[in-house]
Amino acid sequence: MEDKLKHPVFKIIAKVAGKKNVQAFVVGGFVRDIFLKRDSKDIDVVVIGSGIEFAQNICKILGKEAKLSVYKNFGTAMIKYSNWEIEFVGARKESYRKDSRKPIVENGTLEDDLKRRDLNINAMAISLHPDTYGKLIDSFNGLGDIDNRIIRTPLEPEITFSDDPLRMMRAIRFATQLNFTIDSKTLTAISKQKERIKIVSKERVVDELHKIILSEKPSIGFKLLDETGLLKIIFPEISRLKGVETIKGKSHKDNFLHTIKVLDNICGKTKDLWLRWAALLHDIAKPDTKRFSDDGWTFHGHEFIGAKKIPGIFRAMKLPLNNKMKFVQKMVLLHLRPIVLSQDVVTDSAVRRLLFEAGDDVEDLMNLCEADITSKNDMKIKKYLSNFKLVRQKLKEVEEKDNIRNFQPPITGELIIETFDLKPSKIIGDIKAEIKEAILDGRIKNDFEEAYQFMLKEGEKKGLEPQHS
Ligand code: CTP
Repeated sequence: MEDKLKHPVFKIIAKVAGKKNVQAFVVGGFVRDIFLKRDSKDIDVVVIGSGIEFAQNICKILGKEAKLSVYKNFGTAMIKYSNWEIEFVGARKESYRKDSRKPIVENGTLEDDLKRRDLNINAMAISLHPDTYGKLIDSFNGLGDIDNRIIRTPLEPEITFSDDPLRMMRAIRFATQLNFTIDSKTLTAISKQKERIKIVSKERVVDELHKIILSEKPSIGFKLLDETGLLKIIFPEISRLKGVETIKGKSHKDNFLHTIKVLDNICGKTKDLWLRWAALLHDIAKPDTKRFSDDGWTFHGHEFIGAKKIPGIFRAMKLPLNNKMKFVQKMVLLHLRPIVLSQDVVTDSAVRRLLFEAGDDVEDLMNLCEADITSKNDMKIKKYLSNFKLVRQKLKEVEEKDNIRNFQPPITGELIIETFDLKPSKIIGDIKAEIKEAILDGRIKNDFEEAYQFMLKEGEKKGLEPQHS
């Protein structure tokens, strides 16, 4: 194990531990990640005694480059050294939570400290004292759980989860990130205690949700959230997508299963959190717009209603109400456009309009649209994808020719005012809109001269006369 403790700081910790004869251990995520062969920047050190005093001694040796922050009330200290963060804490009897505001009691043994942690895989420690340097302490067989790819709690799950209900989400998050199975007793406990998630702050819940969304296959997590009943509590809008209705022998697809498949698909194309959010929310208004007619099931206008719902959802989830939200809104609004376009003859004018509306986000939109194809029929998928290729090709051609992306009208309102000697009025907006439409339709080119001539004609139609200076 010693060879896994490569960071120079471990040798220094060992030196201080030996000199002061204090037992010190690296614990939690760092140890877990050694066995998972994952990089981890944060080091958590538990000492039997005062974590703060120990950290101060370490800092003396590390010198000026190390920055020490002491949180007296919580009995913890943090050292920042190069790009590492090392947290020191005395072994505690109470439940462990880094972000807890509760003052801690420091008089526990290592065993006490480990058993109050969230999961067996997170409850391992490695000794840093010179006498036992590198020895693994694994009282709850975390290593066995890693080998068997199992998520379970050190104590009875009811106790571990009632110490901090967010741990129910952490269990699901780790199962998703690592593609592990949650032990059945642990899973049952989550179902039983799901309501307790309500006492956890939305920020902490969403933080875990983001880690699920950012994993390779988020559907694993969403299925578990659904299965345990947590989804309905933390994200009712997504839960509402569930279910299949059948009328006159015609069924629509389960929009929850479709949505999480689209989310998985987009994960193969992007790591961007907000494009992944767009995938999660693209069909959010399907339940609101569902109708049955003789032609079967329809969801007319779900993209418009969906886009309208985004600010409310962002507010409820305490997500930023900024340009990220606008981006998600735009993706939801436009997500059907490329597919509609590809079903018809792909005209320049339709492509120009799409470019105009999507601007620089057109690539993301195309990716979302491709991810949205979840048909079980391989022939259909092939057909769609080849149509999309055509749309992409056409987008490139029109872009090169017309420069429509991030379109700026070639004729300004001021020029219209000057040309016809007008007072600011509605007619100026009307002329500008006519020019834009003409360009997008391809009746005139996106350049000054053609737009100017067009403006003169439009003015004339409206009875205006150009003023010659
Ligand atoms: N921990 C816990 N209960 C919590 C949060 C954390 O018992 N609600 C313990 C676990 O032992 C965990 C350690 O504190 O390994 C460090 O927590 P944190 O840094 O939040 O998470 P990591 O496990 O390191 O994982 P990640 O960085 O992926 O969040």
